[in-house]
Amino acid sequence: MSAPRRPLPPTSSLPPLRSLDALTEDRISEALGNLYALYCPLPPSLAFHQQSLQPGALKDTPSEQAVDSGYTSGNEDEDVKQKQEEEEETLAELRDDAYERTFAERWLTGFIGRAEELTCFESEEALQRAVDKASCVLASFFTTAEDEDDEAIQITRDFQFMLSPTCQSGKILIDVRLNDGLAGRDNTDHTDVGLQSWGAAIVFSELICASPSRFGFTKQALGPASRIVELGAGTGLVGIVLGKMLPHLDITDANITATDFHPTVLENLRANITTNFPPAPSPVQTAPLDWSTPDLSGPLSHPVDMLVATDVIYDPAHAAWLRDCAARMLAPHGTFWMLVTVRETGKFEGITDTVRKAFTGRDGLRDAATGTKVLAILEEESLEWEVCVGRAGERAYRLFRIGWAEVEGGGERLNR
Ligand SMILES: C[S@@+](CC[C@H](N)C(=O)[O-])C[C@H]1O[C@@H](n2cnc3c(N)ncnc32)[C@H](O)[C@@H]1O
Repeated sequence: MSAPRRPLPPTSSLPPLRSLDALTEDRISEALGNLYALYCPLPPSLAFHQQSLQPGALKDTPSEQAVDSGYTSGNEDEDVKQKQEEEEETLAELRDDAYERTFAERWLTGFIGRAEELTCFESEEALQRAVDKASCVLASFFTTAEDEDDEAIQITRDFQFMLSPTCQSGKILIDVRLNDGLAGRDNTDHTDVGLQSWGAAIVFSELICASPSRFGFTKQALGPASRIVELGAGTGLVGIVLGKMLPHLDITDANITATDFHPTVLENLRANITTNFPPAPSPVQTAPLDWSTPDLSGPLSHPVDMLVATDVIYDPAHAAWLRDCAARMLAPHGTFWMLVTVRETGKFEGITDTVRKAFTGRDGLRDAATGTKVLAILEEESLEWEVCVGRAGERAYRLFRIGWAEVEGGGERLNR
């Protein structure tokens, strides 16, 4: 079923979230189509072309208008135009209604959060299309008219994390503002996934703020002038949270470097760091780093005390690249925290296993100091998040603590 021609108010047209399980795919598509038509209207020129392709629109074509009944006012064009303008005005009022918008936002967030549980979709692709449509409408709520003129849609997102109340200074909130461009710059470039913050980065930020000592973020555990590197940093959420959190823990001399390999992502990352730490100098620096061919120069030339990476496993090659890249970077006492998003469907099925296979304690480069160790999983934990915090409806994660362990056999010698 397609969306109704004239969009309806969300409060009167959206089915209750609690009955999502009982809805058909058509009913959900209809609800999403209505929201899309209301909040993501086509520019007038496109809307015109689309309308003229619909069979029902034929009566508006000049050839049919030429058959004059004799009862027309002679000003039909004007009448139609005026009617259209009135309709657009009514629609604009509905679109600007804050109550309706908040209602729609809650519904969309709830739908995305529960989408994967719904069984009414005929195929995975249909489910994905519905989630994409919902995300698209949601994204439009964060886009201003000025942004729409840009080729790149800029979406600003604000995050807030509460630092563990055990800190001496009482309740501390870590605020982060990010340019988080869901729509990306070039829809054909699927490598710029780092232009949005993924659920794993949000979950990891919450975890480290809730319990910094559990992750080794204490003055004693890190030691003086410690080096922390984020791999595949994307928008830089985790690195920025660290930059804001550590001084509250009396760690003021840490070197934090956020890395990524994609030029556009790096550019956005730098901008986000500037936004969060004005005026310079910032406690977080950036460096280009490709896990498959790591160039460990400049700020990356020193052994690293702590590596962090969130949602960096979505290709079968990633885990082994990250293992060997980390092996060349991590200090003998260092820890590598990796939070993997569990996506057990389609092409991502079994992707978490690639981490277990890569970090078995047998394969990979040995440590430079003794030549008897390889990187291995020292601890693994499953995390289920009650609500979806990212944009893709993901709620299951695996937290890996990785470090050097005596090699169980095989392994290549490390040549830093
Ligand atoms: C799914 S995003 C996650 C971004 C961020 N960590 C987060 O959780 O929001 C994956 C990130 O890894 C980066 N990436 C992918 N392949 C890479 C590679 N070979 N070397 C370095 N970074 C890579 C991407 O550019 C992207 O920023």
